[in-house]
Amino acid sequence: MSRLFTPLTLRGLTLPNRIAASPMCQYQAQDGLVNDWHLVHYGGLAQGGAGLVFTEAAAVLPEGRISPEDLGIWNHAQAEALAPVVRFIASQGAVPGIQLAHAGRKASNPAPWKGSGSLPASQGGWTPAAPSALPFDEGWTVPTALDEPGILAVIEAFMDAARRAVAAGFRVIEVHAAHGYLLHQFLSPLSNHRTDAYGGSFANRTRLVREVVGALRQILPEELPLFVRISATDWVEGGWTLDQSVALARELKALGVDLVDCSSGGLAPRAEIPLGPGYQVPFAARLRAEADLPTGAVGLITEPEQAEAILAQASADLVLLGRELLRDPRWPLRAAKALGVEVPWPASYLRAARGSVPTRQALR
Ligand SMILES: Cc1cc2nc3c(=O)[nH]c(=O)nc-3n(C[C@H](O)[C@H](O)[C@H](O)COP(=O)(O)O)c2cc1C
Repeated sequence: MSRLFTPLTLRGLTLPNRIAASPMCQYQAQDGLVNDWHLVHYGGLAQGGAGLVFTEAAAVLPEGRISPEDLGIWNHAQAEALAPVVRFIASQGAVPGIQLAHAGRKASNPAPWKGSGSLPASQGGWTPAAPSALPFDEGWTVPTALDEPGILAVIEAFMDAARRAVAAGFRVIEVHAAHGYLLHQFLSPLSNHRTDAYGGSFANRTRLVREVVGALRQILPEELPLFVRISATDWVEGGWTLDQSVALARELKALGVDLVDCSSGGLAPRAEIPLGPGYQVPFAARLRAEADLPTGAVGLITEPEQAEAILAQASADLVLLGRELLRDPRWPLRAAKALGVEVPWPASYLRAARGSVPTRQALR
């Protein structure tokens, strides 16, 4: 009996299996709008059998985009454009999810293949907003510290974006509070030097994440789950730690968060991260055990047996795959075969599912 292909029910929503396509920026949008690239890309992931297909980080405000080519959901036109993508994902039996994001001081970058560092205004860049006027790294644009009205505007932007996402048909909303972006910048003492109610103590640094999550839970339909992605550690002295992640996860659970998606890093540019297969799985396991809520494991999960073991060992409830799904969008169909599970294939692909040597008749 495969755990990977056992449905997962969260609130009123059931994922057909425990494989999720992790959010991955495509840097292909114009004015925050999806286009044919996104339909084909996300459509392919849904055809490939992932139970949950997350679209990439969608910016809740234009200044919260990582790059000018990021997806946005700060206006109605962007949400409307997403609706056909959502419909196609759902038509393939997958659950459509969206990650809502604000990049904070890591905003205004070029797409990775065009360079790195802050994009100058002459090339379409802008001055990012952050908890404190501390740049991500040497040579990066110094961000503007958000004042209280600015913080309230961010919370409202997350709420408006979530309303639009639900109207567009998304069934899972994930708040991006990881990878050194705005909400993570508030959490970490390395990037948050504020002296007001949003900085200093653990309670103050976690305030914005808690307020965003609390506000979203108020407006989301009761039956739809809310996920939060965190970086469980900054991997540097003096930064955000795994112990703090456990404490935050307990609070998130009390606020109605249904799953914490456990990533790491992204806040400190020179952090040394011990990369290896499943290197972040222990974070998902610890939060699951100590905060007593469902978790997602992500990061260098590439083999069906590895994914199966993560679930069998109760380290996580959901496995998210990133780059492996870029290499092979039909990984879930392949994994089912490897684990001896029969799963539905798209009807048009059925002759490939059987995998036998073609007979004369099959060749017709
Ligand atoms: C091209 C690319 C874009 C990404 N964009 C996002 C994103 O929008 N939001 C996010 O939380 N993580 C993003 N990530 C991180 C992935 O979701 C994932 O956590 C990471 O790649 C580790 O998983 P993997 O080893 O399976 O790729 C991105 C990764 C890649 C490779």
